[in-house]
Amino acid sequence: MKYTICVLPGDGIGPEIVAQAVRVLHRVGEVFGHEFVCATHLIGGAAIDATGGPLPEATLAAAKASDAVLLGAVGGPKWDAIDKAIRPEKGLLGIRKELGLFANLRPARLFPELAASCCLRPDIVGQGLDVMVVRELTGGAYFGQPRGEEVRGGERVALNTMIYSESEIRRIARVGFETARKRNGKLCSVDKANVLEVSQLWREVVIEEAANHPDVELSHMYVDNAAMQLVRAPSQFDVIVTENLFGDILSDEAAIITGSIGMLPSASLGASGPGLYEPIHGSAPDIAGKDLANPLATILSVSMMFVHSFGLTDEAAAVDKAVAEVLGEGYRTGDIMGTGDGAGLTRVGCVEMGGLVVGRIRN
Ligand code: IPM
Ligand code: MG
Repeated sequence: MKYTICVLPGDGIGPEIVAQAVRVLHRVGEVFGHEFVCATHLIGGAAIDATGGPLPEATLAAAKASDAVLLGAVGGPKWDAIDKAIRPEKGLLGIRKELGLFANLRPARLFPELAASCCLRPDIVGQGLDVMVVRELTGGAYFGQPRGEEVRGGERVALNTMIYSESEIRRIARVGFETARKRNGKLCSVDKANVLEVSQLWREVVIEEAANHPDVELSHMYVDNAAMQLVRAPSQFDVIVTENLFGDILSDEAAIITGSIGMLPSASLGASGPGLYEPIHGSAPDIAGKDLANPLATILSVSMMFVHSFGLTDEAAAVDKAVAEVLGEGYRTGDIMGTGDGAGLTRVGCVEMGGLVVGRIRN
């Protein structure tokens, strides 16, 4: 089969990690007999520099015409001072919205090989750490109107609106239930229904939707408690479904408790059309261009692409297995070296890590 991939390296370490993921993509193509046609386009700060805006028309058109989008990261201090309306992040938010990618799947699991990098006590992690955060991605405070800054009573005020319609809640709740059904059958809906009307509606709609999924065990948790429970007893969670901003925060937390945010992939999916795959970490400008970045989250995002966009589960398993093998052999980028003396581990750079994974892809 032939697949067209729109590749958006973006800023900071984006180009480095994406380059390694593209190598993996081509290697899988070779081994399994597929053709992955990759076309690179601009997004974020790189697009601002070249075209004046963070999401050029050509990028959006290419993304829409592709079978899937692979993205690195956007943003960096270089663009912090520019006009707020054209921040690099607007490129990412814009493409999510334009492609209708309302469902963001962020699996946080601890690779047994990386247990030493995990920042939780062994007795807590011993019970396992495998949480899927299903984050709503095109609604809530990120996109709600009205928004902006104005002068009231002689001083500046700024506002955002956290707003959800029933249908927006229902469709992400469904993704939560379906995801739980394919895993361990437990769904925890996270909200702030003790304070926010938008969360009260969220909870009502999730409960309504539960009637269509009687095989899934549904629970509810306030977001502050969920943030605490994730570090106190993460093994209680299977799938978490939550709104955009809460999901942004909780998914970083879920990621770091697994040891490194450099390991976690994500899939952003719509009702139809291409999905977007990106690591959940940022552009790490401090280490950009130094061959220090961990490409594994982006490589694992390719694996998610195989599953969710192409139904290529054997290919995905081959990528996951190659990554596990490389870790098992003791190869580590700096972020996953752990706090020990590093005995038995080999520190490698981004390019070498990519090559190691490529070398272990087999059918
Ligand atoms: C993420 C990021 C983005 C978000 C930023 C870069 C706009 O933090 O994907 O989690 O807030 O969604
Ligand atoms: Mg985030």
